[in-house]
Amino acid sequence: MDKHPDFASKLPDVGTTIFTVMSQLAADTGAINLSQGFPSFDPPARLRERISYHLDHGANQYAPMTGIPALREAIAEKTLRLQGRSVDVDTEITVCTGATEGLFSAIQAIVHAGDEVIVLDPAYDSYEPAVTLAGGTTRHVPLGIDRNGHDFGVDWQRLGDTLNSRTRLLIVNFPHNPTGAILSAADLDRLADLLCDTNCLVLSDEVYEHIVFDGEPHRSLLGHDELWQRTLVIASFGKTYHATGWKLGYCIAPAALSAEFRKVHQFTTFAVSTPMQYGVADFLTSDPDFYRQLPQFYQQKRDHFCRLLDGSRFRLLPARSTFFQIVDYGEISDTDDVTLAKQWTREIGVASIPLSVFCESHFTGTRLRFCFAKDDATLEAAAERLHRL
Ligand SMILES: Cc1ncc(COP(=O)(O)O)c(C=O)c1O
Repeated sequence: MDKHPDFASKLPDVGTTIFTVMSQLAADTGAINLSQGFPSFDPPARLRERISYHLDHGANQYAPMTGIPALREAIAEKTLRLQGRSVDVDTEITVCTGATEGLFSAIQAIVHAGDEVIVLDPAYDSYEPAVTLAGGTTRHVPLGIDRNGHDFGVDWQRLGDTLNSRTRLLIVNFPHNPTGAILSAADLDRLADLLCDTNCLVLSDEVYEHIVFDGEPHRSLLGHDELWQRTLVIASFGKTYHATGWKLGYCIAPAALSAEFRKVHQFTTFAVSTPMQYGVADFLTSDPDFYRQLPQFYQQKRDHFCRLLDGSRFRLLPARSTFFQIVDYGEISDTDDVTLAKQWTREIGVASIPLSVFCESHFTGTRLRFCFAKDDATLEAAAERLHRL
């Protein structure tokens, strides 16, 4: 008999992500998929036309490792205009393969074996495995209620208590998936004060930077003079251009941090799809109104979805950003959220994401996340089914 080689898993606790699990279950059962966060509409026609143009005009070989200059220039221009931060096109911007690669490369570049990394729960599920692979330990600090009574504000006391001399990195994600929480200007000052005497760096996942509601601005860590010096910001064109399948993102960080980021990026992926970069560079420069109208576009979706759920037995939590609505189903059932999300996918025909999978404690109550980045007919059909509960 063949002898199978022994090996130890580097990620023994990691299974298939909940997004894949729920999307697969939705496909298998024919349920409406409001689980994984992707829009049901196409990227803008002109952007697609620009990418086709470059595909047909020779932009098909390796791009520079850091990204094509035209795209880095367009990103720098946008960053100056929106956040007031002047970043160096050559040394402070790196184009990467979606935010996922950016987050992974940043964590590998910064975290040494034995370091601690703080994440705020509910935390996006790619952070912790990347920390584990780097030999670090993840410390979870749950989001709480902020001073204005908003759900999922930063619990400053607990964050301060968790921070110690081994903390290498704090990972934040505002606008926040899955809760839609955002940061106030006072929050940024408070974070800067908390970190000022430490060596803790910050990784700021800002993939929903252009989807903030009710007239609030997006407050990037890039806009804060002190925080910026210790921060790597990760962004993605996937959410901004209804193009999650393109996997195109970028990292902005001060030159010294960008240099470390690039050392990993060049061996993780080296360079990113060339025609995509040219097409997005053209569109970013010529059509800034596209991302300017995104808050209004998604706010209408949010409001429509909430109106559709009016009179149901769900309690809707305020959705202040992103394209997710959290609902509390406590009045309907006390079954745990993972079991219920799967059961309702099969029996009601609507797939969602259970909130507890984003939390260390694995139980945050009776809450599910629905994605409302869908055409109205899909939202209406889903709401009609949810009203049966
Ligand atoms: C908070 C957050 N970070 C990162 C990502 C990954 O972005 P990308 O598809 O650009 O890799 C997502 C995608 O859903 C996300 O919600």
